[in-house]
Amino acid sequence: LRVRSALIEPDGGKLVELVVPETRRREKKHEAADLPRVKLTAIDLQWMHVLSEGWASPLRGFMREAEFLQTLHFNSLRLDDGSVVNMSVPIVLAIDDEQKALIGESKRVALIYKHPKEERIARTWGTTAPGLPFAEEAITNAGNWLIGGDLEVLEPVKYNDGLDRFRLSPFELRKELEKRGADAVFAFQLRNPVHNGHALLMTDTRRRLLEMGYKNPILLLHPLGGFTKADDVPLSWRMKQHEKVLEDGVLDPETTVVSIFPSPMLYAGPTEVQWHAKARINAGANFYIVGRDPAGMGHPVEKRDLYDADHGKKVLSMAPGLERLNILPFRVAAYDKTQGKMAFFDPSRAQDFLFISGTKMRGLAKNKESPPDGFMCPGGWKVLVDYYDSLSLS
Ligand code: ADX
Repeated sequence: LRVRSALIEPDGGKLVELVVPETRRREKKHEAADLPRVKLTAIDLQWMHVLSEGWASPLRGFMREAEFLQTLHFNSLRLDDGSVVNMSVPIVLAIDDEQKALIGESKRVALIYKHPKEERIARTWGTTAPGLPFAEEAITNAGNWLIGGDLEVLEPVKYNDGLDRFRLSPFELRKELEKRGADAVFAFQLRNPVHNGHALLMTDTRRRLLEMGYKNPILLLHPLGGFTKADDVPLSWRMKQHEKVLEDGVLDPETTVVSIFPSPMLYAGPTEVQWHAKARINAGANFYIVGRDPAGMGHPVEKRDLYDADHGKKVLSMAPGLERLNILPFRVAAYDKTQGKMAFFDPSRAQDFLFISGTKMRGLAKNKESPPDGFMCPGGWKVLVDYYDSLSLS
């Protein structure tokens, strides 16, 4: 029985869930005992988590070659009924020559294909410059083969880091959003501490949705929980920071759901932001906020941003398979010295604005300097200072 829901339908119509029901686990584990094994890296496990809960619905496992090629070349997958869903980043499992030889013998596995690393990197990031964090961590030294096929996950993925209660699956999020009676759900992806510029995007969205006639728009504040680059603030500290932002009233706890998105971070800009948006459809979001340079980073070798800061929102508004999602593009927010607060940048009086980049923010917190009043709530800022303090102690 399918209960009719006010929330947007998941991609493919039905949410994929790959965790074996408890009643069948014993039998499945027994069956698995005789199968060849692949040891997963931390990032493999994060992708398995993503797949197991249906964030990538309708994908049912690590990509087969046909899915991998469609992802790389079309940023989308064509389903059996001819419809198209967005899928912009490869979700693949690499194995090395030795593992391939072992597995190759097994009758149960026939879905091994070549891992074209350079092409995967070039097509996902648009560059093969050295120093791309995800590529260095998970591609360059990974095996020469990819193995795909449907997954059956024997146990729900847990991290036992005190944050599992924030890791709601798309199914659980949908339940929560329905419980709250949401008539619109707007998602905010982030991998950084929340400053008042981020908050401005979120509060402005709520205002716009109320103006459009929605009665109970709910914000999904959805920090990314998987792999991030070394100089990003770790998840546990970001969660503390987000808690303060709600406590200090920058965001309203009554109309906000805070949860962790289990994906690793690729820093693949306009290509990756499609994945960020698509996954949130599956979690029930029908509005998606996008601002300046989403999923971007500095060029690893040159002194410039890797991506054009406007391409993310432009691409998102045109992306194949995301037509059902309402994209809410935002101008860049910066510190307005005349008002003493974060505001949307007005190019006609550029001299009034101060841009505080992630690097600059980290520098201030590290040196225990304060940002200008109104940049971030004091409680949230203190968490960052404490984090950098903890680094210098260790
Ligand atoms: S991201 O990698 O998750 O995209 P981040 O956490 O920095 O990075 O940003 C989260 C969201 O806020 C993205 O949609 C991004 O475009 C937006 N954003 C970040 N900083 C600004 C800013 N100063 N002005 C407008 N939008 C911003």
